[in-house]
Amino acid sequence: MNHLKHVAIIMDGNGRWGVKYKKSRNLGHKEGLKTVEKIIKETVKNKIRYLTLYAFSTENWRRPEKEIKYLFNLLENFLVKRIDELHKKKIKLKILGTKNFSKKLNTLLAFSEKKTSKNHVLQINLALNYGSKLEIINALKAMSKSKNTINEKNFIKYLYTKDIPDPDILIRTGNTKRLSNFLLWQLAYSEIFFEKKLWPEFNEKDYNRIIKKFKKIKRNFGNI
Ligand code: IPE
Ligand code: IPE
Ligand code: MG
Repeated sequence: MNHLKHVAIIMDGNGRWGVKYKKSRNLGHKEGLKTVEKIIKETVKNKIRYLTLYAFSTENWRRPEKEIKYLFNLLENFLVKRIDELHKKKIKLKILGTKNFSKKLNTLLAFSEKKTSKNHVLQINLALNYGSKLEIINALKAMSKSKNTINEKNFIKYLYTKDIPDPDILIRTGNTKRLSNFLLWQLAYSEIFFEKKLWPEFNEKDYNRIIKKFKKIKRNFGNI
């Protein structure tokens, strides 16, 4: 049975769900947040140490300003309301991505990361203004300025994910089979699950089915 340390999720399909059931993409994002809460709880229950959630990509800035504002408002409210509870549950929050948001949100993110930095039950990595290509370029720039030899072991020290094991599982909801610039380096050997359900429809049962399936997969890492 495979040991499961790290699950990464591309939470896709909020907009389509919102349009279908509430005539509003934004209300889909609001509903999607409920799934986030369910999945966090279930991750703790399953004793999985790392959960990485793709919340906003470097390409998502192409969206209408109204939707972007709504998304960041949702995040702000979530953190203000929930950070104490996450902290009590010994959950650590880490942001993957460039923090260049409003001053208020930057401060809130830095505060939340610092407050929870010593927690050890679960680490939630929130990929926010995250793009894998940018992450790799920035890592290369930093490494080329250092005296470190260019090799795999040194390179990973310059990624946002340094100190985090690579994801064992990648889940993408929303019936779309692509990576959308997410963790291109780190997903090299992850088991990938593309789910038909939209993110607001995804639930604990779906999650546990994937976990169960993962545990039985023969992972080769090039070996036989
Ligand atoms: C993913 O859902 C959430 C974010 C990108 C923030 P989408 O908003 O992409 O939903 P669809 O794909 O348009 O349905
Ligand atoms: C990926 O979803 C980004 C997040 C889930 C945050 P998108 O909906 O932005 O991906 P594309 O644009 O359809 O590939
Ligand atoms: Mg989408």
